[in-house]
This record gives sequence, structure tokens and C-alpha cells, in this order.
Amino acid sequence: MDRRVRKAVLPVAGLGTRVLPGAKTTPKNMLNVFDRPILSYVIEEGRAAGIEHFVFIVGRGQGTIEDYFDASPEIETALEAKGKADILAEVRRDLPKPGQMSFVRQMAPLGLGHAVWCARDIIGDEPFAVMLPDMLMAAEPAALAQAVSAHDQVGGNIIVVEPAPEGEAHKYGIVDLEGQTGRLNRMRGMVEKPAPGTEPSNLFISGRYVLQPEIFPLLEKQGKGAGGEIQLTDAMAELMKVQPFHALEYEGVTYDCGDKIGLLRANVAFALRHPSLGADARAAIKTLL
Ligand code: UTP
Repeated sequence: MDRRVRKAVLPVAGLGTRVLPGAKTTPKNMLNVFDRPILSYVIEEGRAAGIEHFVFIVGRGQGTIEDYFDASPEIETALEAKGKADILAEVRRDLPKPGQMSFVRQMAPLGLGHAVWCARDIIGDEPFAVMLPDMLMAAEPAALAQAVSAHDQVGGNIIVVEPAPEGEAHKYGIVDLEGQTGRLNRMRGMVEKPAPGTEPSNLFISGRYVLQPEIFPLLEKQGKGAGGEIQLTDAMAELMKVQPFHALEYEGVTYDCGDKIGLLRANVAFALRHPSLGADARAAIKTLL
């Protein structure tokens, strides 16, 4: 059986409440970070990790995601006619080959666990990645590539983690480790939003996973958890009883685009590091301070 991680699930069906009204008619993950939609960065990261097929879990009104990853003959023909080769290359850079993307309707945003479960038939019986696209990760090698390398090394399930800001661990899903040496450690458990002072570590689950397909039957019977939602964390806790889980503290910087200040921070950071416009962006930002 092919145990290579070839497919990634990208749940994008949430309502994006924290970035309304921006996310009212534009899906949250299609909002721009400087000059490209958030999803453009995430797909680039997935490709760098060897992902060959992306499965989007979408909701109603998110057709623009599918359109973004399709050819756009009108725009492309116009750019060709005008000889704008550089813009044309930008427009085409994110396009998949036909058949490399699937779009599944979640039908109701019942929670992240439910969203991942919707991909079961397309994933089949092989390990797969989950990428939460509102987390942008600037890393070299790419964050998911680091997780896939860890999977090559120890197998089982991998959860990418990172240190929570001082005093904020209680806001996140936190991992409980058997011991802590280096960046890759066997997990003992995890807790969702632990009461302050009871956190088993300061490492939070930050939005990239490699999971085994045995998660699907567990998700199938997973009831509602925290916030009345079907939680991926609850099904992972069940799977951990029979399969190893490792937490990988990845090397890189995460930008949480799920709220307005995080999205602003990502915009500034990616503008500053832009290969051709970074210097101009820096000068423009300076004039505002
Ligand atoms: P979030 O809770 O961060 O996203 O879920 P959200 O629900 O869109 O945001 P708020 O809280 O309303 O502002 C993490 C990821 O999981 C997806 C979201 O789209 C997001 O990318 N998700 C969440 C689903 O696809 N389906 C769900 O039922 C829940």
C-alpha cells in the first residue's frame, strides 16, 4: 500500500465570523494577503510538501474558490494579447493540473471534525494531510514538508505544534507529551483550552496534521464536543488510544489570518518579504507610523 502522504484536506466551510463583513461575500480564505488570496500561499506550501491532490471542504457561496483554481480564458487571452507575460505567469501560478483538486460540500458547518470526515471517500485508505488554511506558515522547508518528513521518520499521526505566547496557552488546543527532547515528541494526550495554570505544555496545535485513515470511522460516530461542534481533537484523542501520535514543533513563523489583527499582521509581513515589492511596501508602511 502507498503510505506516502499524497492528499491534503483543506476545510474552508466555516463562516469566518471574526473577519466579517469581509468574509460575507468573499470566502475567508480567499481574502488577500498582500497580492494573493490566503489559499494561494497554502497550496504553494502543500505542493512543496509533495501533495498531489487537494480536497477542499466548502460551504455555500464559495464557488469563487473553484473558479480561482480554474483557467480564466478571458483574462489570460487579454494578458497574452497585451504581452503582459509577468502578470500572466502570476495568474497561472496556482493552477492545478486537471483532476488534482476536489470540492466537497459540507452542507452545514458542524465543526472541523465533521468537515474532515466529508473527505473520507476521496482520501480512501491512505495517510493524508489536513491544512487549516487560515494559518499561514512561513517556513523553509515548508511547514507541511516538515510534518511529512516527521511522518517518514516515525509513521503514525503527526500534529504540528508551536509555543503559545506567554500566558495564552489556555486559549488553544494544547498537547501533552510523554517527554520533551528535540522537536519531535511522542504525545500522551491533548486538551482543548485548558484552565489557566493546568496546561500540560505550552505547545498549541497550530493547523497542520498528518493523519491515518483510521480517523474516519471515529469521526463518523463522534458526537458534539466543545462549542456544540464535532471536534477533530476528540476523534484524535480516541485514535491515540490505538495509534502513535507525535507532536512536531516546526521551525517557522505562523500568521493566524482568522481574525482582523492577525490578517493585518500577515498582510504587512508578506508585503515586506515580497521579492519585488518588499522595499516599496516598507517605505509605504513607514509613512503610516
Ligand atoms: P475556524 O473556527 O477557525 O473558522 O475553523 P471559522 O469557523 O470560519 O471562523 P470563525 O470562528 O467563525 O471566525 C478552522 C478551519 O476549519 C474550517 C474553517 O473554514 C477554517 O478554515 N471549518 C470549520 C469548516 O470547514 N467547517 C466547519 O464546520 C468548521
